[in-house]
Amino acid sequence: MNEDNKQCRIVVCMGSSCFSRGNNKNLEVIKDYIRKNNLNCSVNISGNLCEDKCNKGPNVKINERLYSDVEPNMLLEILNHTLK
Ligand code: FES
Repeated sequence: MNEDNKQCRIVVCMGSSCFSRGNNKNLEVIKDYIRKNNLNCSVNISGNLCEDKCNKGPNVKINERLYSDVEPNMLLEILNHTLK
């Protein structure tokens, strides 16, 4: 992490639909990614209960942008793009 202490915000939808569609694994991918990488911001992860877009899940919001149909490989690309 660098010194200017920029904040990055990740919100993982933990509603039952998104959770069972893959956010249970995506949450682990995110935590693992943060542990293993030198990021340009301090990351705040939180969960929410539903984004009202269950049929597009799993949904993950990063810095206020909502990503849908998030699979682990896609998630790694998004994290590389947004947090590094
Ligand atoms: S459970 Fe995630 S959008 Fe509804």
